Amino acid sequence: MIKKCLFPAAGYGTRFLPATKAMPKEMLPILTKPLIQYGVEEAMEAGCDVMAVITGRGKRAITDHFDISYELEHQIKGSAKEELLGDIRNIMDKCTFTYTRQNEMRGLGDAIYKGNVLVGFQNPFAVILADDLCVNPDGDGILKQMVDLYHKYKCCVVATMEVPNEEVHKYGVIEGKEIEEGVYMVSNMVEKPDNDKAPSNLAVIGRYILTPDIFDMIKNTKPGKNGELQITDALCEQAKKGMVIAYKFKGKRFDCGSVDGFVEATNYFYDQEKNKNKK
Ligand code: UTP
Repeated sequence: MIKKCLFPAAGYGTRFLPATKAMPKEMLPILTKPLIQYGVEEAMEAGCDVMAVITGRGKRAITDHFDISYELEHQIKGSAKEELLGDIRNIMDKCTFTYTRQNEMRGLGDAIYKGNVLVGFQNPFAVILADDLCVNPDGDGILKQMVDLYHKYKCCVVATMEVPNEEVHKYGVIEGKEIEEGVYMVSNMVEKPDNDKAPSNLAVIGRYILTPDIFDMIKNTKPGKNGELQITDALCEQAKKGMVIAYKFKGKRFDCGSVDGFVEATNYFYDQEKNKNKK
């Protein structure tokens, strides 16, 4: 069973400065809910009840968000506004939150490696990058779809989507063979390739199911692109053993780590909300 979900959230979020100078990027709200809460709700829907967060300096607002605020609770008790805390109370009732810090920003591979003390070495675990906001209005959430696929293939699963050729340099990109509709057996992965050298236009986005042997792979991986420890490079070693599946998920993904994607997500959720209220 996949019960634990890791949230690497130690990045500086420099594309959102100055907003992220003293506030974590993961706490930026889409309407009234911070990005990381969307991620936690997706993980819960997929069956996880332990949320393991990799934090860093200046990220205390995340810890506080998933804790009781006694003054606030006292202040709004009995008022109509109490309802606004319903979702977060439900999360706190059902989930355990654990935290560790990544002291230095050494890349996503390093952040995930730091998570070994939280997720352990026994079971597969999920990873969500909260700044990739994913929704599927027509059915199961993206992580739930991936968990189902894990049970079929019992190996690492990465979420993938087609991106325009001129954008592949922003992503980890896979090479692989389609083994069933939308499911690829990955043979190679390249982090941020030049547009004309990418093996495909199938980009990896911020959802993973990882098996615990990934920790050994990361330990043996050398810093790659930008001098950072890349999870793509560690996964590439797994892929060479036929142990990575890429899944073209059903749903939408917003790149909320960029201003454009963030605005797009805000408009999308606002429209959804307006339509709901009309009904
Ligand atoms: P990004 O590169 O998108 O996040 O990393 P960033 O560095 O915070 O953003 P910019 O580019 O400066 O605006 C993807 C995810 O991996 C985490 C980030 O927090 C983000 O969720 N991450 C990345 C870490 O936790 N540690 C790292 O060393 C690198």
